[in-house]
Amino acid sequence: MTAPQQNTVVAIDGPSGSGKSTVSREAARRLGWHLLDTGSVYRALAWYGLRRGADLADRDAVVALLPDFFAAWELSVDPDERWVRVDGVDVTAAIRETAISEVVSHVATNLRVREAVNERFRELLFGDDAPGIIAEGRDITTVVAPDAPVRILLTADESARIRRRLAEKAGEDAAAVAASVAARDARDGTVVNFTTAADGVVELDTTNLDLEQSIAAVIDLIRTGSPR
Ligand code: DC
Repeated sequence: MTAPQQNTVVAIDGPSGSGKSTVSREAARRLGWHLLDTGSVYRALAWYGLRRGADLADRDAVVALLPDFFAAWELSVDPDERWVRVDGVDVTAAIRETAISEVVSHVATNLRVREAVNERFRELLFGDDAPGIIAEGRDITTVVAPDAPVRILLTADESARIRRRLAEKAGEDAAAVAASVAARDARDGTVVNFTTAADGVVELDTTNLDLEQSIAAVIDLIRTGSPR
């Protein structure tokens, strides 16, 4: 009997607005692979905590929610079907709202939460049934899947990142969006380093690349293991 072929895990990290979500999703789609959007889990947990009336800054209280949360949480890894459900409620749009973006760092900087969530991520990644899966987040290249055969850090200048966030949030105040992106990265940066590439991680600077060029560069890296 031959051993089952293992799937390929690709790790992609980067700060907000680096393009990592859109680029990872589209690369996964074109490769016929799955996608794990790890940020959506922190967001869904923040949503769940608020719904349960928890003080998200209370680390013990959030850790105590984890068993119920994991029992209630469902996430699609199909890049063509983007949804997250909690207790059967579709929270895909709700977890992207500013109200959640403003508080999600409380959950994401809780180290015991990170440990538990990372365990789930590994189960999902290594037990997945597609030929490959891209996991995108902040600490995938360094903590969640440091042995992944392809690890990429997507970066872009702050001005480019703010411009991209603004394009997603049409009608919102530019200065407020810029401040919120910078503040969130600063908070999240206290527990994980997602601005410099760790040893063996390829940095891909997308400041001067459009979306199509960024996707092509990532697919190239996945296929060849090195930049063009
Ligand atoms: O990528 P995003 O904006 O959806 O991430 C939501 C939050 O979760 C953000 O504050 C960063 C944090 N995060 C993290 O700390 N580690 C990850 N692997 C993914 C996201």
